[in-house]
Amino acid sequence: MAARPHVIPDDLKLVTAIPFLKWAGGKRKLIKELELRFPDGIGEHITKYAESFIGGGALFFHLVQNSNLKEYLISDANPELYIAYKTIQESVEDVIDELSKLEANYIKSNSEKRAKLFYKIRTAFNKGVKKIDLAVPNNAKRTAQIIFLNRTCFNGLFRVNSKGEFNVPHGRYVKPTINNFNNLRAVSAVLQNVEIRCGDYSNCVDWIDEKTLVYFDPPYRPLTTSSAFTSYSTSAFADEQQKQLAEFCIRLKDKGASVIISNSDPKNIDVNDDFFENLYEGFQFHSVLASRAINCDGKKRGAISELIITSYEVN
Ligand SMILES: C[S@@+](CC[C@H](N)C(=O)[O-])C[C@H]1O[C@@H](n2cnc3c(N)ncnc32)[C@H](O)[C@@H]1O
Repeated sequence: MAARPHVIPDDLKLVTAIPFLKWAGGKRKLIKELELRFPDGIGEHITKYAESFIGGGALFFHLVQNSNLKEYLISDANPELYIAYKTIQESVEDVIDELSKLEANYIKSNSEKRAKLFYKIRTAFNKGVKKIDLAVPNNAKRTAQIIFLNRTCFNGLFRVNSKGEFNVPHGRYVKPTINNFNNLRAVSAVLQNVEIRCGDYSNCVDWIDEKTLVYFDPPYRPLTTSSAFTSYSTSAFADEQQKQLAEFCIRLKDKGASVIISNSDPKNIDVNDDFFENLYEGFQFHSVLASRAINCDGKKRGAISELIITSYEVN
């Protein structure tokens, strides 16, 4: 089937769609730096965009509303994300209905009852992990549950254990916005005609061609052992996986695609660590300042550099 070009209805153009989930490693703060390093010809000879570690989708939501790109593919290995994106694409009003019930219940309760409701929903969500059927991804109840948990949990993040169970404790936000229905409708509008897939990043290879800008934001290579954070999904992303991803990017470059990748910069710790230079031969390296923690110690938070790697020359 030929892909339809991306069109957003006029009445929803007034609301800017932003990520509906707060996601570990979200790239909102890196959008400008990434855009500065885009290839020439966006909206001209480059008309397609693929992002295969979509997470919360910060860059995708920005581009789909602020660029002349015409066709989009997003995907992630995490099945919960696939369900949420597909359901909001197809049945956003059902998600809003489910969420408004949860929100009403939560907001009117005292802190004890709120905690009880949170753990009840968390248990229900976790019981559903084994029953996930990706052939039938449309699931408004589950999508509402993940948004509710994301909005009301400690630090507002999505994190799972090795069994794929959500394990973040209850947070203490006084008036969390649980049902941001305007944003959900805007998200649904921008997702129309977007191809959404679930699985390993390599499953987008058939879609990518010389007209495609590809952005990969994999789980970062840990700078220190204590900063290792590999629980976005149940699979780890170790050095071997970084190597395989680099080989895949070289394949895409050979296909004529423009590839841009973000990752941690090992030179923050050891200036002689050429791990990524050795993997991405022939790619261009850009070191940019980012504000994120170098380890768990809050006092040591500060600007450190991150890597942006491009398959093409940036002037
Ligand atoms: C750093 S996060 C992406 C954050 C995203 N750019 C944002 O702005 O929210 C990495 C994502 O990679 C996904 N992931 C991990 N291994 C993967 C794989 N082999 N294939 C596809 N996605 C994978 C995780 O589920 C997670 O959502």
